[in-house]
Amino acid sequence: MSWIREGELTIIERFCANIIKAGPMPKHVAFIMDGNRRYAQKCHVERQQGHSQGFDKLAQTLRWCLNLGIREVTVYAFSIENFKRSKEEVDGLMDLARQKFSRLLEEQESLKKHGVCIRVLGDLPLLPLDIQELIAQAVLATRNYNNDVSESLLDKCLYTNNSPDPDLLIRTSGEVRLSDFLLWQTSHSCLVFQSVLWPEYTFWNLCEAILRFQMNYNALQKARDSYMEERRRQQMERDQAYVTKKLQQEGCSPRGAHGDSRRRRTLLQKCTAMREERIQGFLQALEHKRADFFERLCTVSA
Ligand code: IPE
Ligand code: IPE
Ligand code: MG
Repeated sequence: MSWIREGELTIIERFCANIIKAGPMPKHVAFIMDGNRRYAQKCHVERQQGHSQGFDKLAQTLRWCLNLGIREVTVYAFSIENFKRSKEEVDGLMDLARQKFSRLLEEQESLKKHGVCIRVLGDLPLLPLDIQELIAQAVLATRNYNNDVSESLLDKCLYTNNSPDPDLLIRTSGEVRLSDFLLWQTSHSCLVFQSVLWPEYTFWNLCEAILRFQMNYNALQKARDSYMEERRRQQMERDQAYVTKKLQQEGCSPRGAHGDSRRRRTLLQKCTAMREERIQGFLQALEHKRADFFERLCTVSA
């Protein structure tokens, strides 16, 4: 039995989904699934039961997202802070994650047909030493190329770099904080805090969150565009300053004759191309280090 593909929407849900889909839709939604233990307490069931129903709710929510055409979902299932909970609770949560996520991964081939791709990510309790070492190397390598260090490079270094930033972030259970989840990536996302406890989340709660995204869509888009424009402008300014310095070193007048302005254009193109090359090299090294690290981690935990 499939974990997330079971069941279609009811007629009324389908009707409302079609209305919502007429507006701008979030392409990537992030969830902080909170409130499992309060739900367990409220329903007088075991804590583990609350967590188990939380995982089942995730399966159901992924199906709704699929039906709504949302192809990218990121969920916060466990935080580093959560390791401070009792051993019994952490072990129980890990067992559930193993069971439910491995089932989801088994289904990924058939899900690919729906355009769905699954990645299970985790935050690491400590920044691995070799990644720290790589950052140190990068700092040394870029010492002479301050222009390389930018916000867009930081984006590319994060493990979320293959996804667009979330358009919508939802946290349930009435808590109004991000608890360290995707802090950088959600700076221009629509944040929706809902009071419902995660295991009780409904299709209608999801619709409400999407409607709130749609109501704020223009403002969000405008803020995102002007932020990207500002990034481009700053990079251009830094490159121009670098070229001016180079021209001065060559004895050319920075605002000089026709020949000088041609030289300026050539230098600018060269500077951009060389930066791109350095950055690609750095990112490839980072990717290799990361892959090695995870391979070793899997060998140790196998
Ligand atoms: C969220 O629910 C699930 C995890 C953190 C694993 P909680 O376990 O935080 O439940 P509450 O917030 O205490 O009710
Ligand atoms: C938040 O965990 C992370 C998840 C919901 C997975 P908590 O519910 O323990 O969050 P804080 O620590 O109270 O913010
Ligand atoms: Mg909680």
